[in-house]
Amino acid sequence: MTNVIRRAEERDVAALQHLQAATPGMPEWTPVHWLGLLSGDAIVVIAEADGEVAGYAVASLLRIPGEVVAELEAIVVASSHRRNGLGNGLLRYLLTEAQAAGAIRLMLEVRTGNGAAQALYRGLGFQEEGLRRRYYRDPVEDAMLMSLQFPQETVAEEKGPE
Ligand SMILES: CC(C)(COP(=O)(O)OP(=O)(O)OC[C@H]1O[C@@H](n2cnc3c(N)ncnc32)[C@H](O)[C@@H]1OP(=O)(O)O)[C@@H](O)C(=O)NCCC(=O)NCCS
Repeated sequence: MTNVIRRAEERDVAALQHLQAATPGMPEWTPVHWLGLLSGDAIVVIAEADGEVAGYAVASLLRIPGEVVAELEAIVVASSHRRNGLGNGLLRYLLTEAQAAGAIRLMLEVRTGNGAAQALYRGLGFQEEGLRRRYYRDPVEDAMLMSLQFPQETVAEEKGPE
């Protein structure tokens, strides 16, 4: 099986919608919302398995004065393609793109009962930062906050003439 991870494009919107509809609990974004993500300040990444869209991950970029922070909005792998490294590949690709866009860290929320996603995040170095009580609905559940700080480039101090 050939897996490819790449940035999503407008032609992928129907497949993205199909996958979100097949995954319980995913945000139900309209085609207009997807197109807005693709043309705006978000990073949308797709995993293809043998040419079929098998997963996606989305991060938004929050531009706070003086810094850029990335926030994971969604990550999904089709149930028939799980435990095959696609989730890991999507997140790694997203981390590289977020860092290239100037982000200093990637933040996320995850259901406290979602052990699979938490294991994926921990494996990539995400640290637990706290809980948001009763954050989710259907069913009501706490959110665990996690984040991964990107290594900062050390800027060499400029030296004047000796
Ligand atoms: C979470 C999700 C994206 C993982 O995708 P995936 O392609 O199966 O993940 P990978 O195969 O890359 O797994 C990477 C690591 O994550 C961990 N992991 C993934 N699924 C796991 C599971 N069911 N149980 C325990 N650990 C799991 C493992 O450490 C795994 O490494 P390993 O296979 O070498 O043991 C997928 O299960 C999914 O789409 N779930 C439904 C949507 C969801 O919950 N999204 C997260 C919302 S915050």
